[in-house]
Amino acid sequence: MLAEPHFKRRPGIWKMLMAAVCVALLSGLQAQDLPGQVSIILLGATGDLARKYLWQGLFHLYLEEVGKGHHFRFHGTALTSTEQGQEVIAKVLESLSCPRDMAPGHCAELKAQFQQLSEYRRLKTPEDYLALSKDIEAQVEHEGLRETGRIFYLSVPPFAYVDIARNINSSCRPGPGAWLRVVLEKPFGHDLHSAQQLAAELGSFFREEEMYRVDHYLGKQVVAQILPFRDQNRAALDGLWNRHHVERVEVVMKETLDAEGRTSFYEEYGVIRDVLQNHLTEVLTLVAMELPVNISSPEAVLQHKLQAFPALRGLQRHSAVLGQYQAYSGQVRRELQKPDSFHSLTPTFAGILVHIDNLRWEGVPFILMSGKVLDERVSYVRILFKNQAFCVQSEKHWVAAQSRCLPRQIIFHIGHGELGSPAVLVSRNLFRPALPSAGWKEVEGRPGLRLFGLPLSDYYAYSPVREQDAYSVLISHIFHCRKDSFVTTENLLASWAFWTPLLDSLAHEVPRLYPGGAENGQLLDFELSSGHLSFSQPLPEQLMPGLDSAPLPSDFQVLRAKYRESPLISAWPEELIARLAGDIEAAAVRAVRRFGEFHLALSGGSSPVALFQQLATGHYSFPWAHTHLWLVDERCVPLWDPESNFQGLQTHLLQHVRVPHYNVHPMPVHRRQRLCAEEDQGTQAYAEEISALVTNSSFDLVLLGMGADGHTASLFPQSPTGLDGEQLVVLTTSPSSPHRRMSLSLPLINRAQKVAVLVMGRMKREIAMLVSRVGHEPKKWPISGVLPDSGQLVWYMDYDAFLG
Ligand code: BG6
Repeated sequence: MLAEPHFKRRPGIWKMLMAAVCVALLSGLQAQDLPGQVSIILLGATGDLARKYLWQGLFHLYLEEVGKGHHFRFHGTALTSTEQGQEVIAKVLESLSCPRDMAPGHCAELKAQFQQLSEYRRLKTPEDYLALSKDIEAQVEHEGLRETGRIFYLSVPPFAYVDIARNINSSCRPGPGAWLRVVLEKPFGHDLHSAQQLAAELGSFFREEEMYRVDHYLGKQVVAQILPFRDQNRAALDGLWNRHHVERVEVVMKETLDAEGRTSFYEEYGVIRDVLQNHLTEVLTLVAMELPVNISSPEAVLQHKLQAFPALRGLQRHSAVLGQYQAYSGQVRRELQKPDSFHSLTPTFAGILVHIDNLRWEGVPFILMSGKVLDERVSYVRILFKNQAFCVQSEKHWVAAQSRCLPRQIIFHIGHGELGSPAVLVSRNLFRPALPSAGWKEVEGRPGLRLFGLPLSDYYAYSPVREQDAYSVLISHIFHCRKDSFVTTENLLASWAFWTPLLDSLAHEVPRLYPGGAENGQLLDFELSSGHLSFSQPLPEQLMPGLDSAPLPSDFQVLRAKYRESPLISAWPEELIARLAGDIEAAAVRAVRRFGEFHLALSGGSSPVALFQQLATGHYSFPWAHTHLWLVDERCVPLWDPESNFQGLQTHLLQHVRVPHYNVHPMPVHRRQRLCAEEDQGTQAYAEEISALVTNSSFDLVLLGMGADGHTASLFPQSPTGLDGEQLVVLTTSPSSPHRRMSLSLPLINRAQKVAVLVMGRMKREIAMLVSRVGHEPKKWPISGVLPDSGQLVWYMDYDAFLG
């Protein structure tokens, strides 16, 4: 039997206990009932951003919230002396404005209250932070209030973050029951590594939910409207918001201003870090992400946004065009005291092509563009839909709301431009959008105004009833804990992970100089072709660096000679690849004509990538439907691994051509969930497949490369496997990772009708010299064992490899 509880046997104690609990509950309730106070501490309160936007944003918050149960205190802080700081703040507070529809008397009254609640103080040492904390506590108690929370808004340079964070954490956290919110302004790092470092440091002081990283584009009314628009128009957009209907998406921020006065910042960052990594990427993800069922759940929105990143295809050097306004280097020289010989490589203009490899967006180009000193100031996202209609009536009979022949587009007009205000535009031939429930109105007609090729009247257009500055919106969202308007650590790092490889590869790229404004003409226009971006116009001569000494590719002809007694074709890389691709196509056409099929065995690695791309884009008569593709060698990794040769083939060739699936023969390195296990007999299986499908196991063409150590396929020096004997396919060991490989053997390679060896780049120069002199020594240099029994061997070497 269980013992009776102690208090049941002692009713006196029970009563006392209950009384104590009630008192505690009551006092708790009383504390709960006390009006709450929120303290907002603005660090860097005398700085540019604070003076221009943040004080106004705080005042706006006060206007919105006053009388709704919260008390406020505003502490402007900086390193400036108390006297100087007070002077600056007094001026700023005097200049604050109320919404246009507020009565002047009421405005003056609220402004005076706000001024009363605002103070300036110097915040520098740990003692200053402690004193601030004590003062807040004392004042809250004195006024009979309860502390609800503290917001620290750090409008300071990032090098100051960590010290400030330490001080807040150690001496200025509010007591139990009150929350802490710390607001941070960009830049949040310079690349992935520095962003990770900063995130780790901040993470040691604050919890994720306490941090609010500002991207002011997320506070722009139209940007904040992208998800609600998609949500409210689900029925119309469900079938349209995808690769089948969207032609392309443009995310644009054009500016007329230059970087004068802030080159010390700009020189280190440039346009990609300043604008594309953050503002434009945020906007891109809002357009591209899958829509959560409930868009008012910040967690769901943040989660879905983050999930958009893994599908972004890695950027390459050719995904970008860069420019720099001509006056920029001079400004840097002046402001940063650089010598006359200094020329900056920092881009002030960039166009970037982004692809999203998922079922919704595959194949749809997303163009991101931003630049300083352009012809107009405007930001927008434009979703242009495909137009497959043919209109029988002549153009004069086209009706905006019905004609499928007019452009069909949705524009999130973020601001400025000819329209001059934020707006959402939907061309009338698409659908009539649902207007947001409150705060938005239809845009009034403006005869004569054309936007993106259509008169304004051809759009359903709506704009905010009251324009609000982004910072005011965000400050209100901080107060209301709307975390989805801010950048989480994970989101930030995902964005840097996406941009950093491109930034690294562009570090030494010379941007195209442009004069600025209307004078730019067509100089910065760029175009997309085969997944690359390039300027539409060649560089005018006066802007070209001296080229007199360096020979151009066209100065050389394709060179024909002999190498190891076999034909050698040598040229600059582009011509060489074009020649090899042409030769492969010719061999394919011949084989298909004679035998009905063409068996091509391809190597992996980096050299053939350009060849694959050339075959994918420039060879429309290639008989792909009758071509069988085999692998010369493979790394023992799953086929979806980026290191897999098959994956390279898939990305650069198979995705773009129509080879029947049953004609593609990847090497079976991954069987029964194991990699290259002898017992799984992958080599035998591949050999059997070859014997069954390829007449006499003689490929029509085998494409090989040559390693700097003389290896070819995955046949390496000092390793006897695969150099002779009966085995057609072998397992080998590479000196470099991944070590385990599967490869065609030399005897099988030598049975081919034609073997092409592609050798490119300066790194191959030494081995090319050496191999030109050695005899048949496959154990030392497996490439020297390539000698087709009755077929033909041709060497394709670029000038760098051949002439050094
Ligand atoms: C800032 C950039 O984040 O955004 C500036 O640092 C840029 O270089 C500015 O001028 C543009 O913002 P907005 O709101 O004027 O479009």
